[in-house]
Formats: sequence, C-alpha cells, structure tokens
Amino acid sequence: MEIFHKPEELKEYSRKMKKAGKTIGLVPTMGALHEGHLTLMRAAREKCDIVIASVFVNPVQFGPNEDFDAYPRRFEEDCKKLETVPVDAVFHPEPKDMYPDGFCTYVNVDGDITKKLCGARRPGHFRGVATVVTKLMNLSRADEAFFGQKDAQQVVVVNRFVSDLNIPVHINMVPIVREPEGLARSSRNAYMSADEKQRALVLSRSLRKAKEAYDNGEHDAEKIKKITREVLDAEPKAKIDYVDLYSFPALEPVDSVDERSILAIAVYIGKTRLIDNVIFGGADK
Ligand code: PAJ
Repeated sequence: MEIFHKPEELKEYSRKMKKAGKTIGLVPTMGALHEGHLTLMRAAREKCDIVIASVFVNPVQFGPNEDFDAYPRRFEEDCKKLETVPVDAVFHPEPKDMYPDGFCTYVNVDGDITKKLCGARRPGHFRGVATVVTKLMNLSRADEAFFGQKDAQQVVVVNRFVSDLNIPVHINMVPIVREPEGLARSSRNAYMSADEKQRALVLSRSLRKAKEAYDNGEHDAEKIKKITREVLDAEPKAKIDYVDLYSFPALEPVDSVDERSILAIAVYIGKTRLIDNVIFGGADK
C-alpha cells in the first residue's frame, strides 16, 4: 500500500494509473477508521481497479468552537485497517500542504440544500467539505467516489457541486453501518463514556420507532417527527439539536412521508453531537 503525504505525489500516482487505463475509486475520510469507513472502501474495491483512501482532518470544515483539535487521529492504526481491505494508496496530507500560504479559493454550495439541517447549525461546514472534496477529486482523478448515507446531507451537497462544476466523477452512496445494538458507527463515538454510549442508543431507537409508525400507516410528517421527539425526550442526557423530515435527495419540506423521505436527527449526548437518519424506503432499518 502506497502512502502519500504531498499532493504532488498523489497527482503523479493517479496520472500514471489513468494512463495505464485503470479506473480509480476515491474514499475521502477524516480517519479514526471504523467499520462504516471500511464498508465504503470495500464498495470501492468491488467497483474500481485502484482504490485511493484519504485520511485528512480537514480544518476548513470545522467551526471555531468545534472539535478540530480533539478529533481522534490514529494514522498508524488506520493504515493497518486499510491494508486488510486492501486499498492501493492512502493520502495523508498536512493542512499546510492542502492550504498553503495564499490559498483563497473555496467551493461554496449556495442553494437551499446547505441552509438546513447541519448546514444551518454549522456555518461554513459544507463550504469546507466541498472545497476539500473538490481538491481530492482533482488530485486523485477519481472515476468513482464513495460517501456514506450516515452524512446524507453531505451526499446531497457533493452531488450538487459535482454536477454544477461538471466534475467527471460518479458518486456512490453506501448505507449506514451500525453497531449491533443500533448506534451508527462514527469516529465521534470515541468521545463518549460507556454510559453515554448506552444512552446514545436512543438515536437509532427513535428512528426505528418512527419507521415502525410509518410501516403501520402513519404518513403525517408532523406526527412522525413528534414520535421521534418523544423517544429522544425520554432520555435525560439527550438534547435535541434537530429532528427534521425532507424529501431525499432534494431536501424539500414534506407534509406526507413516502419512501423517498428522510428523517434526519442531530442530538447531543452530553457534549458529543451525534447525527443519524433513516430513508423510509431505504435498506437501513
Ligand atoms: P468522515 O466523518 O471520516 O466520514 C468519511 C466517510 O465515511 C463519509 O462519507 C461518511 O458518510 C462515511 N461514514 C461515516 N460513518 C459511517 C457509517 N456508520 N456508515 C456508513 N458510512 C459512514 O465525512 C467526512 O469524514 C468528511 O466530511 C470528508 C467527506 C472526508 C471531507 O473532509
């Protein structure tokens, strides 16, 4: 497995691979890899000749009071996990190489899709994501890029700028990978104590309750949100950031829930902010 730290090294590698006629799959991550990330890697492995993973805690997508400094960094462990897939190359740059002195060009997705859900609570977040993902796509010359439904709004935003900027890459969305008891895998789960992790099960429980109500014929969006809130409110350590229902992938408001609707939640368990979602007609339960 090749490890590249400098953007120029990755650029040269992908140029060679492209010249040799290989298809390239890109899996962008911020590291502290778990089964969710590895599922994306395997999806890329199935579909592409060459798999490039990136491990980069991207400073420009974090707000000033967010967890950039605390974000877990475990590059050696990550490499061991990536070798099991296996992936062909890992890109692990330094912030100063991705954003050298003089850097001043950002990709700003300026539509309604970034003004709700996490976009409304984390100003500048999707600008940072769109900027780094554009750079990673350019450096890797990826034909296919893989993202998780866990960050469903991110998938919508990526599809938007890829289409708007005519980037020649196809976006693949992989279902949410969960722990056996239901908690969506996340690098941020590492912030929680055992007690908090237990309490965090309320997120997936609330979505399951909502899905159950939907399956039993309840399609009223307000009622589905109310059911979700009630489950979350019953957990004293849970503080709701949002509980929202939209069409997917357009992210337009819905009155009546159907199989293309997404119920998305963000909830604090203690100091840890967790997100989760369900698409009613999706594979995830
Ligand atoms: P990160 O949170 O490390 O996630 C990397 C990719 O893994 C994302 O596409 C995310 O949706 C996916 N992922 C995370 N947990 C998952 C789970 N439980 N099941 C399925 N997929 C999961 O998302 C980012 O990093 C960054 O914003 C990034 C795109 C790398 C840009 O910096």
